[in-house]
Formats: sequence, structure tokens, C-alpha cells
Amino acid sequence: MRADYDIDDYGGAPVVQLENVGVRYGMGPEVLRDLTFAIEANSFQFLTGPSGAGKTTLLRLILMSVRPTRGLISIFGEDVSDISKDNLTGLRRRMGVVFQDFRLLDHLTTYENVALPLRVQGKEEATYRAEVVELLRWVGLGDRMHVLPPVLSGGEKQRAAIARALIVRPDLLLADEPTGNVDPSLARRLLRLFIELNRLGTSVVIATHDFSLMDQLDVRRLVLGDGRLHIDE
Ligand SMILES: Nc1ncnc2c1ncn2[C@@H]1O[C@H](COP(=O)(O)OP(=O)(O)OP(=O)(O)O)[C@@H](O)[C@H]1O
Ligand SMILES: [Mg+2]
Repeated sequence: MRADYDIDDYGGAPVVQLENVGVRYGMGPEVLRDLTFAIEANSFQFLTGPSGAGKTTLLRLILMSVRPTRGLISIFGEDVSDISKDNLTGLRRRMGVVFQDFRLLDHLTTYENVALPLRVQGKEEATYRAEVVELLRWVGLGDRMHVLPPVLSGGEKQRAAIARALIVRPDLLLADEPTGNVDPSLARRLLRLFIELNRLGTSVVIATHDFSLMDQLDVRRLVLGDGRLHIDE
């Protein structure tokens, strides 16, 4: 699949804005510094850089699970420095997250894990069942729906985690190495899924160091190195 689609059609304010942001863990050195950039509505970008460069940290900043030690962050137009707990929950609900370590609940089946965000929203199963099944089939888990995560392979867990992030049709998708455990042809298929989600209006950020994945799509690259961000438009 080649880069053949148009991402110039931005609408509205940025979904994420950082200004002079720095982060350190505890008393350690700053792992990210002087970050100033925006993620536009309906945009698609890769976040890259070597292992330890801070990709996961940057995603956690956007997810508001790590606080900046300096600078300003706004998410969906809201300054998050003194945000209330309710507000934080509301903003997080607009995000879909694929964690590098999956974070599936081991006592729920694959189907139940993927359906969980909808259940939490108070939706009736009858309204989403078919959609969850269709998405699971699309990611190749049609015959793994009713098993528990501990018996899934790494790549199967990864696909379940992706389906769970996508099922809510988030405004912002944060995916941390979402193709790190699958073969190249499955990676291409998953990339198509992210592109489709983006076409429907979601801003997509994919953290990866897989150049063969990035080379399939001519989109913006946020490149981390030595704690700083460089942008390849
Ligand atoms: N909880 C933590 N406490 C202390 N230091 C941390 C913590 N998490 C990450 N770090 C450090 O912050 C830096 C950035 O780590 P991060 O996990 O964000 O990198 P990454 O780019 O996601 O790496 P990878 O490609 O291996 O996933 C590293 O030096 C790491 O050791
Ligand atoms: Mg990481």
C-alpha cells in the first residue's frame, strides 16, 4: 500500500498542543525538553526515535498519566495543568490507546476486553455486539474471541489491544509500537485500519521505530533524539 491519501484537510483547533514542555522522572535528568508542537485535528503522524528516546513518555504526557515538570499542555483545547478529575476522565474517553505492553484484563475474554470501553460507557450489548465481532474478525481474531488473553500469542494480544482502542472511534488514537509483534503483512493490514480510522476523523499518532512501516506512508514524522523533538513534515 502506497502513500496516496491527502491529510491536508484539517478542521478545527489542534487536539494536542505543547509549549516548552520538559519531563523528568523523579530526580533524574530531563528525558524530554523544550517540546513545542501541535497535533492537528484529523492528522496522521508517526512518532519515532531510538529505544529510550522518550516516545512512550510523550504518549503518556498526552494521556495525562505523566505530568510535565515544566511547560504547558493543552488537550482538546483544555489546559491540563489544573484539570479536575472528572474533566480528565472526560478527555481520556476521547482517546484510544494501544499500550506497548497491551494491558488486557486476563479474566475477561478477548471479546469482553474489546467491548469493555463500550460497557463502561453504559451501552447495551445488543447495540455493539456485531460491531465488536466485525472488528475482531478484521484484525484476524475471529476464532480467538472467546479465549482469555493468557493463551493469546504476542501478536494476537497486540491486535486485541488495537481493537479495544478503535472500538470507541476515538478523536485521538495513541498507539505505542502497535505493530511490534506482528509480521509485515499483518502490519500493513493494521496500518490500513489506522488510515481508515483517520479518514473517519480521528487524529492518529503511531509510535514506532519500524522504518519499513513508516516508509509505507508519506506523513509527518515526529522524531525524538537527545530529549528533543525534530519534525519531518
Ligand atoms: N517510570 C520511569 N522512571 C524512570 N525513568 C523512566 C521511566 N520510564 C521511562 N524512563 C526513562 O525515560 C527515558 C525515555 O523512556 P521511554 O520509555 O519514553 O522511551 P521509548 O522511546 O518509548 O523507548 P522504547 O522504544 O524502548 O519503547 C529512558 O531513558 C527511560 O529509561
Ligand atoms: Mg516505548
